[in-house]
Amino acid sequence: MIEAVTTSRRTIEYREAPDPQPNPGTAVIRMATVTLCGTDLHIWDDDYASELPIIQGHEAAGTIEALHPDDASGPWRVGDRVAISPMFYCGSCYACSIGRVNACRHMTVYGCYQDGSLVSLQDVPLEKLYRVPEGLSLDLAPMSEPLSIAMQAVRRGRAQSGEMVLVSGAGPIGLLATVCLKDLGCDVTVADMNPARLEMALSMGADRVLQVGTEQFPTPAQQAELDELTSGDGPALVIDATGAPASVATGVRLVATAGRVVCVGISDAELRLTLRSLPVKEIDLLGSRNSQNLIGECLELLDRQQRVIAPMITHRFGFDELDAAFAALADPAQKVGKIAIDFPASDQTQAAAAAQTNSGLLS
Ligand SMILES: NC(=O)c1ccc[n+]([C@@H]2O[C@H](COP(=O)([O-])OP(=O)(O)OC[C@H]3O[C@@H](n4cnc5c(N)ncnc54)[C@H](O)[C@@H]3O)[C@@H](O)[C@H]2O)c1
Ligand SMILES: [Zn+2]
Ligand SMILES: [Zn+2]
Repeated sequence: MIEAVTTSRRTIEYREAPDPQPNPGTAVIRMATVTLCGTDLHIWDDDYASELPIIQGHEAAGTIEALHPDDASGPWRVGDRVAISPMFYCGSCYACSIGRVNACRHMTVYGCYQDGSLVSLQDVPLEKLYRVPEGLSLDLAPMSEPLSIAMQAVRRGRAQSGEMVLVSGAGPIGLLATVCLKDLGCDVTVADMNPARLEMALSMGADRVLQVGTEQFPTPAQQAELDELTSGDGPALVIDATGAPASVATGVRLVATAGRVVCVGISDAELRLTLRSLPVKEIDLLGSRNSQNLIGECLELLDRQQRVIAPMITHRFGFDELDAAFAALADPAQKVGKIAIDFPASDQTQAAAAAQTNSGLLS
C-alpha cells in the first residue's frame, strides 16, 4: 500500500508500507475518494494541535477490500461501498456518559490526531463504517463528514420547520448547514463578505443573502430587511460558521429574544460580550463539535441533495498530486469550494476524471 505522510510543514512524502490485514471487527478499506477541508490546510501548514508526522485525511469513502473470517456472518461483504466516520471517543468520560460522544474529553480523529485516510488501504473498525446509498457516488460520499458537522450545529440549534435562521459564513460548513436547514423547511438567510460564496449559497437554496461589507453589519437597509422578515423579532436561530468574534457578537445582538446562537466556527480569538446580552434576552449560546454519529443520516441527506451539494467540489486531484492539491487549498485565488482526492484503481475515479474533463474543470 502507499501512504502519504505529512512529515514537516508543507511536505508530503509517499511511502510504501505492508498491506494492512483485517482483524476481527475491522475491515480493510480500499480508498476511493478523500475530500480536504480547512483543518487539513492547518495540519499541512504545521499550524495545528497535533504533531507531525501524520497521515492526513478525515473525510473519506471507499470499498471493503478484505474482512476477517470471524466477520463473515456479519452485515458487511467485500466490495461494499462505505464512508468512514473518523471520530474515536472513550465511552466513559462525562460527555460520553451522557451520550455527547462528539465532545469526548479524549476525542481523537483520523487524519487530525491519529493517522488518517490519505492511504490506498486503511484498516478501519467496522463500527466506523456507514453504507453508501446505491445512487450516491463514492466521489461525493466523503462530503457526509463535513455535512455531519453542519447537521450537528443545526441539531444543537433545535432548528424547526418555518423558523427564520441566519447562517453567518458561507464556507463549506455554512453552506452545508444551509442545505440541512432547507431540508428541514427553515427560512435561511446567509451572510458573508465573499460575493462568490454568497452566489453559491443562493444556488444551494438560501432564501436570501446579506453581503458583509467594511462598514457596520448589518447596514441600516439590511437591518430593515431582517426586521421586516421577522416582525422586528430577529432570527430565532443564528449559526456562526466563521469563527470570527464579530460574527458571534452580531449574532447575539440580532437573534430573537429567547433565541439560540450556535458556535460551530472555531478560533483562538477572544469573544467579548456584555453580561447583559445573554440573560436579558435569555439566549442559548451553544457550542457544536463534530457530530453525534450523524454520518449515516448525512449519507441519506447527501443522496437526496446530491445535485445541490456536488457543485461544492470545485477541484479534483489524483492521490499522486497532493502537493498541487494542498497548494490549491492554500491559494485564495483558486476560489476553492472543496477539493477531492481521487485514488487510482477504482471505477469511480475514472468516472470522476471523465466528468471533470467534460465539465472543463481540469485546468
Ligand atoms: N465545530 C467543529 O467540529 C468544526 C468542524 C470543522 C470546521 N469547524 C470550523 O467551522 C468554521 C467554518 O469552516 P469552513 O470550512 O466553512 O471555513 P471557511 O474559512 O471556508 O469559511 C468561513 C467563511 O466565513 C466568512 N467570514 C469570515 N468572517 C466573517 C464575518 N465576520 N461575517 C460573515 N462571514 C464571515 C469567510 O468569508 C468564509 O467564507 C471554521 O472556523 C472551522 O474551523 C468547526
Ligand atoms: Zn474536515
Ligand atoms: Zn469520552
